[in-house]
Amino acid sequence: MSGVRHYLLPGAWGYIYFSYFNSPAARLLPKGLGKDPAGGPRLRHILMADSLFSLVKAAPEDPILGVGQQFKADTRPQKVNLSVGMYQTEEGKIPVLKVVREAETRLFNSEIPHAYGPISGNPALPAFIQELLFGKDSEVIRSKRACTVQSLGGTGALKLAADLLHVVVGKTKAATSVPTWGNHNTIFSQAGYELAHYQYYDKAQGAIPFEHMLDDLRALDTGTVVILHACCHNPTGLDFSAEQWGEVLKVVIDRGLVPVLDIAYQGFNQGLDEDAAAIRLFAKAGISFLVSSSFSKNFSLYGERIGGLTVVTQSEEEAKRILSQVKQMARANYSNPPNYGGNLVAIVAGDPALRAEWKEEVTAMRKRIREMRFALVKAMEEAGTPRDFSFVTRQNGMFSFTGFTPDQIERLKKEYAIYAVGNGRICIAGINNHNVEYVAKAFTAVQKN
Ligand code: LMR
Repeated sequence: MSGVRHYLLPGAWGYIYFSYFNSPAARLLPKGLGKDPAGGPRLRHILMADSLFSLVKAAPEDPILGVGQQFKADTRPQKVNLSVGMYQTEEGKIPVLKVVREAETRLFNSEIPHAYGPISGNPALPAFIQELLFGKDSEVIRSKRACTVQSLGGTGALKLAADLLHVVVGKTKAATSVPTWGNHNTIFSQAGYELAHYQYYDKAQGAIPFEHMLDDLRALDTGTVVILHACCHNPTGLDFSAEQWGEVLKVVIDRGLVPVLDIAYQGFNQGLDEDAAAIRLFAKAGISFLVSSSFSKNFSLYGERIGGLTVVTQSEEEAKRILSQVKQMARANYSNPPNYGGNLVAIVAGDPALRAEWKEEVTAMRKRIREMRFALVKAMEEAGTPRDFSFVTRQNGMFSFTGFTPDQIERLKKEYAIYAVGNGRICIAGINNHNVEYVAKAFTAVQKN
């Protein structure tokens, strides 16, 4: 049977080949050419696709991480990386936070063996994550109606959420903002969802088209999983006001949507507590929802893949059942999360002095990014930008959605060694006082010619 499939699958070539090798003309082939060492006809390797993967097309390079790799390979000394969402210091370095260094020292001295950890991750993390998300005195924490597992960064949490809602709960539709972080679409479509979208950006206004967006949410089928950016929207840097969140929540409840709140940048807009306002609002409403959170950015632990999935349910008993299901998802995917990042965060979480220091370090990162927003706008004015760039100071988090076209982004790379994402997103955290003038001149030049 597999032999027959082998002949027929590749279409026309298969047909020609099949007809030829089963005809008397096959005898005309030079001796040996018609047979391969395994006994099959050798010519098939010439005539038709033959391996398991020969019909598989290459996937496109990742639009964000792929640019980061191109930056690495660039040897020009003036190069600037404004692509991947990683905080960089004034010296252009990815920092190791002081609290992380201290935690690493303690971990090193403790000689903890590299044993398997629990499927749900470091046992100290759920309480810490829930406190960050809901606030210390939250009803959600008191009632124990939420469960949390350590995940492989925010991405891993989203994948667990997608699997839980699809495989266990039976959800089939998911809606993402336009634009969004591209991986939202990939994660949910690969997890088996049919994708829908809600408009999030009005190019002409450089703002959220709020009424239009609400209409898009209202038009979603009941039960659709809706992915919302809790703060520091990626890529636009535009967030809902408190009132707007109230209206979004109302539509979510009225339409019976299933919210997944993605909070990868907690601490990078107003502060750790302030940035969780949307999550606290949803918690107060008493609804069930999911939160993917990350320590990549606010602990600068990008490569350690450390984050959490939190599922807010209706009761402690329900949370326990859901936890058991999430653990099964994790077990089937990667068994249990790596220990290292979880151990580091747990050490900081367990020491009030380190916690306080961590908050200060997050504040310092946030402040530097904000300063760079103003520095960029000033430098753009000085460089003679043909377009007002003050919108940069009205956007939040690490990113600015510049409105640069793919061509302009390509020119920035080719002519100036400045790397940004093709959709026009730049990472403000890659700008510093040493490169801001250079960046502004390049930004101005690609707009003029
Ligand atoms: C980003 O958007 O640049 C980050 O979240 C990194 C990533 O995984 O894409």
